[in-house]
Amino acid sequence: GFFGKAKLVLGYGSLAFLVAAGYFIYEANHPPAEQLPFDPSKKTLVILGSGWGATALIDSIDTQDYNVVVISPYNYFLFTPLLPSVTVGTLNGRSITQPTRHIVRYKDREVQLLEAEATKVDPKSKTVTFEDKSDMYGSIGTVQIPYDYLVYAVGSQNQTFGIEGVKKHGLFLKELSDAESIRRRLMDCVEKASLLGQSEEEIDRLLHFVVVGGGPTGVEASSEFRDFVRDDLSKWYPAVSGRVRVTLIEALPNILPSFSKNLVEFTEHVFKENEIQILTKHMVKDVDEKSVTVQDPTGKIVNIPTGMLVWAAGNTARPLTRDLQEQLKDEQTNRRGLLVDDNLRLLGAEESIFAIGDAAATNAPPTAQVANQQGRYLAGIFESLARIDRVEAKLIKTRQQPESPEKTAEISRLERKLERTKATLKPFHYTNRGAMAYIGTEQAILDLPYGSVQLSSGGFLTGLAWSSAYWSMLFGIRCRASVALDWLHVRIFGRSIEALR
Ligand code: FAD
Ligand code: NAI
Repeated sequence: GFFGKAKLVLGYGSLAFLVAAGYFIYEANHPPAEQLPFDPSKKTLVILGSGWGATALIDSIDTQDYNVVVISPYNYFLFTPLLPSVTVGTLNGRSITQPTRHIVRYKDREVQLLEAEATKVDPKSKTVTFEDKSDMYGSIGTVQIPYDYLVYAVGSQNQTFGIEGVKKHGLFLKELSDAESIRRRLMDCVEKASLLGQSEEEIDRLLHFVVVGGGPTGVEASSEFRDFVRDDLSKWYPAVSGRVRVTLIEALPNILPSFSKNLVEFTEHVFKENEIQILTKHMVKDVDEKSVTVQDPTGKIVNIPTGMLVWAAGNTARPLTRDLQEQLKDEQTNRRGLLVDDNLRLLGAEESIFAIGDAAATNAPPTAQVANQQGRYLAGIFESLARIDRVEAKLIKTRQQPESPEKTAEISRLERKLERTKATLKPFHYTNRGAMAYIGTEQAILDLPYGSVQLSSGGFLTGLAWSSAYWSMLFGIRCRASVALDWLHVRIFGRSIEALR
């Protein structure tokens, strides 16, 4: 009957699921015994970075055609969209990182991975200098290597507008270590506020968490803090949790300028319900150990005491990028980032350098989505370039042969093939797959372009879509399993409150 059939389908379904899961787990743990060695006859492609852009490229490039060298100060890829969840321990840091070696060990040809920081790119001599910044005894110091092609994907750094106090007293939210510092500071503030013999003002100061910057990073960070207070601190710190305040400061007239107006209003409404104070038209001027100085909409300078200041006021070009711009200053005239042509080739060094992601200034926004698409696009470009090289090499060889009707025919065939292959170098085109942000209490907002209209939604269902979308975008089965287990752990046991040292 019906139940018998349903049982059968369920049984086979579960079996197929288990077999597939087993296969993926085995595969994730067993890289191939052998890879092709470095081949001196191939061109060397140096990739700077192991973030969104670089990782997309490393993952999709065909290493048959190139010797690939990756240089990055971190030997892992960080899944930034879920980084705000690490600040309060909803997720563990390691759940959202993917070791770059777990990717390169599966490539056809060996990839050299150097955990180091590039300190100079010289487009004239086509070399990169890098430094081993590990503080271990016996650091290898500075090394210079040549490249045929360079992919510049070093991202951006936090913009501080020259405010000294920000670097000294503020916390950022860009690297994994930043999220862990926030987590520690948050717990330190709560523990310190729970100590005896402190003034009421001091307790209020310690329990005031201020986030500067109403872009998606600032909005997600303040949302996570509030969730933590409501779900966990209220249970374990009943004496002080009610006094915690979260404030989001934004210089512009509204938060989330890149989202639709109705979603901005919806977020403001949710924040109000969740008691996150939003101060728009407030420009932060200075930061010290215990407070932040802002200019309010009337122009008055106000001092706001705070126990923790998170600086999410946007990004700017890294010093390495500025140096490269300086070397190519006739072509590189945009302070926002590196200028590139339609194929993402660096203006001024079109023959050998490509720039992608946050380091490049294009019409597309500086997001993970863009960097990822650009990285995958470049893999296609390198495939075409290798094909062009092969056809050109054949042409040269054919031209050296003694004259004959066959030779003439072969040359014109190869010339046509070369034209066709060159035509595959199509310009990069960004496909906007929508923007999402987490806004607290398991709700999220989503802006989705659909043809010429913009669909937007916000609430709990969108929250569910947010978590499943990002979960499915995670790199590999290990991260997906870890994130799912972290979420389950938090549901069962709540978030951890130890300030680990
Ligand atoms: P990155 O991913 O930053 O990678 C740069 C790489 O270069 C890193 O590996 C870095 O270590 C390395 N590097 C740095 N200096 C050097 C050097 N001197 N030499 C060699 N390597 C170097 N975008 C979205 O689309 N959706 C989101 O939900 C989203 N959420 C975010 C949440 C947070 C908290 C943050 C901070 C960002 C978020 N973003 C999101 C933005 C997104 O992370 C960036 O746009 C994206 O990382 C840019 O990719 P990239 O490859 O250019 O740079
Ligand atoms: P941002 O540049 O988007 O926002 C920074 C905000 O800080 C701006 O609104 C700016 O007006 C404000 N600000 C700057 N200086 C200030 C001051 N002194 N006082 C008060 N306010 C000040 O930066 P964010 O949020 O880090 O995002 C960077 C990029 O990463 C964006 O492209 C964003 O779309 C992307 N991103 C996307 C996410 C998502 O889709 N969920 C999440 C996080 C980042």
